[in-house]
Parts: sequence; structure tokens; C-alpha cells
Amino acid sequence: MNRRHFLVSVGAGGLVAATGVTAFALTRTPTAALAPWAEAASGHPDPRRFVLNHAVLAPNPHNRQPWIVELTGPLTMTLWCNLDRRLPQTDPFDRQILIGLACFAELAAIAATAIGYRLEVETFPAGEPWPRLDQRPIAHLRLVRDGGLSADPLFAQIPHRRSTKRPFDMARPVPAAGIAALERLSTDAARITAVTDPAILGTLRDLTWDAWQIEAATKRTHMESVDLMRIGRREIEANPDGISLGGPFLEGLSLIGQLSREQLADPASSASRQGADMYRTMLAAAPAYLTVVAPDPSRAATFAAGRAYLRANLTVAALGLSLHPVSQALQEFAEMDGPRARLDRLLDTGAPRRLHMLARLGYGPAVPQTPRWAASTRIRTA
Ligand SMILES: Cc1cc2nc3c(=O)[nH]c(=O)nc-3n(C[C@H](O)[C@H](O)[C@H](O)COP(=O)(O)O)c2cc1C
Repeated sequence: MNRRHFLVSVGAGGLVAATGVTAFALTRTPTAALAPWAEAASGHPDPRRFVLNHAVLAPNPHNRQPWIVELTGPLTMTLWCNLDRRLPQTDPFDRQILIGLACFAELAAIAATAIGYRLEVETFPAGEPWPRLDQRPIAHLRLVRDGGLSADPLFAQIPHRRSTKRPFDMARPVPAAGIAALERLSTDAARITAVTDPAILGTLRDLTWDAWQIEAATKRTHMESVDLMRIGRREIEANPDGISLGGPFLEGLSLIGQLSREQLADPASSASRQGADMYRTMLAAAPAYLTVVAPDPSRAATFAAGRAYLRANLTVAALGLSLHPVSQALQEFAEMDGPRARLDRLLDTGAPRRLHMLARLGYGPAVPQTPRWAASTRIRTA
């Protein structure tokens, strides 16, 4: 029986022996796409490569991995945005992309402490790019040997950090001690707050779902996501970025013709309707939210907010909690103006302040690590 028959049989009546199903499931892990996680853990004699191997594991929008790093000296590097990897429809000012780059820099800084270095990060050395990121560098990075330094305790959480795109347990509230630990991460440059007030939570759940539907119903913003979907192991291994639809179940659906980019592009298809149902359930399962707010809309403040978000994401992992950014209502395309204004009124984050991250917070299931391009593929030598 070829693989196609094998899965049709499963769909039609479960005729296939369990051993066959298990064998199929066991071969679906995109091993090469996950190798960068093991590469980071295995260490590297060059401190620049050590920190970069960790930095590529950063959370970032649609897993675009928009970073390019130039090695400029034995202990110095320059971070650039790969301008082809931006999300112009849903992120017209490259704000979310910049947050991903800031998460990259903060992971690099945390990894540096594990090998006795401090990482100095000089942002926008050639000026702040506006309204979009451009050819100018995002940051100069300098490793400085520091004998008195101890490893940042968050370093140990790097392999455990996730963006958990699953429903959270509504019967398990987030403990007060966890909320206090997260809010303590606030700095002058980025305020971190947990939302737990039941009245606000209900409105936020509705608002995030409304915003999700607007993004999905707006052809150009929806297609930006559809074009980045990688369905099944072969596509994920070929392009270890974007939105991975992997694992035996989704790959099985794709093999029997029930899941394709064409179907997902059509909001009326059963694949799209099932996807929307999945999202509605997930967005409703938010026992709390975490927010990151900057005091002003500058690029420097956005970068600081991104660094703070990364620390919050690692702290969430240390606390055994889960975090999932839900960014649709924050997005700056015209159709989202209404929800964005409602969100700012609800959270009191109007100008000059800037809400940069809104993420579901709670207890979720364990989920796998996500694909990455190896650091070596993102490095240029001066
Ligand atoms: C600025 C930013 C915005 C994000 N927005 C969303 C979002 O709206 N929905 C979502 O499912 N994930 C969102 N994510 C999470 C990314 O999809 C995730 O970081 C990426 O797929 C890599 O997965 P990982 O964080 O589990 O390693 C966002 C991440 C960042 C940094």
C-alpha cells in the first residue's frame, strides 16, 4: 500500500494496522529544521558563534527570522534586518519585525553571560529608520570579557521557551507569585503587566477574536500568512521558517487532500472553517494576558520592549507557565484601526505610550520546539 492509500484507509474506517500509523508518525519530525536547538546546546569555541547559535532561537513574528549578522571583529558584530523577510501587510511599519530582532539581541546578551561576557548593544548607530526599517544597522554588538559576571539564570530556560499556540487551562488561574515575578521585569523603558481582572479579560477575549477574523477576512493580510505556510515535513525542512503545519495529523490531512494552501486561501473551505474554529477555541482559553508597553513610539523604545518581552517569555518558562502572543488587534493596517483603538482605550495604552505585545498567559500543554535556519546561514563576514 502506498502512503496515500494508507491514509485514505485510516480516514475511511481505521483499517490500517497501528504499527503502520506509528511508523508514519515517527518519520514526521523535521529533524534538520530542529537541529539549531541542539547546535546551541552543544557549545562553540568562538564566543560570537556561541551567542548567535542561541540568538537564532528567538521568538519572532511568523517565524520569519529577519536577522542578518556581520562579524566585524574578533568580539564585535553588527545586526541588520533582512529586509526581504518583513511582513508589509500586517506589519506596515516593521514594528513587530523589530521586536523579533530585539528578542534576538536579548537572547545573545543572555547567552554571553554564560561564557563570561557582557554584551554591549548600541541600537541604531546610524539613526532610527522611519517609517520602515532600511539598510541601516539595527545594532552594533560588542562582547566584553567580564570576570565578575555570573550566568543569567534565564540562560537555562532558552531550550524550554515556547510560543504556545494551544488552548490554556481555564480552571488553573495564574498564581499571584508568578504575576509578581513577571511584573518585576518592568523597567523605565518597558512596563510589563498581567491582566487578570475578569471584566477586562472577557472584553479582551472577544476583541482578540474580532481582530483575528478581520485579519482573516482581509484578503491581502490573510494571504501574507497563507503564503508562509509550510505544510508537512518536506516543506518545513526545505524552508525552516514561516508557519509550520507539521506533525502526523496535519500531514495526514494534507496527504488525503484535506489541507492545502489553496484551501486555506478560501475562507469558505472546510480546512479554513476548521482552522477558524481552532483559533476561536484557543483565543477564548485565556486565563490571563501579559502586556508590554513602551513609554513612547520611538524605535529605541520598541527595541527595549522587545528585549523585555524575551525576558518575560523565558521567565514564563521558568514558572512552568505558557505564553502566546495574539498580535492581530495591535496591527497597524487600516481595517484594524477600530479594534486597535478599542484595545488602547481598554488598557489605557494610548499615545504617547505604545502597546507592543499582548499575549495569552496561563497553563498550556507541552509543545515542540519550532524550526530555525542555522545561525551559519545568517552570518556574513566583513
Ligand atoms: C512581535 C511578535 C508577534 C507575534 N505575534 C503572534 C501572533 O499574533 N500569533 C501567534 O500565534 N504567534 C505570534 N508570535 C509568536 C511567533 O509565531 C513565534 O515566536 C514563532 O513562530 C517561533 O516560535 P517559538 O516562539 O515557539 O520559538 C509573535 C512573536 C513576536 C516576537
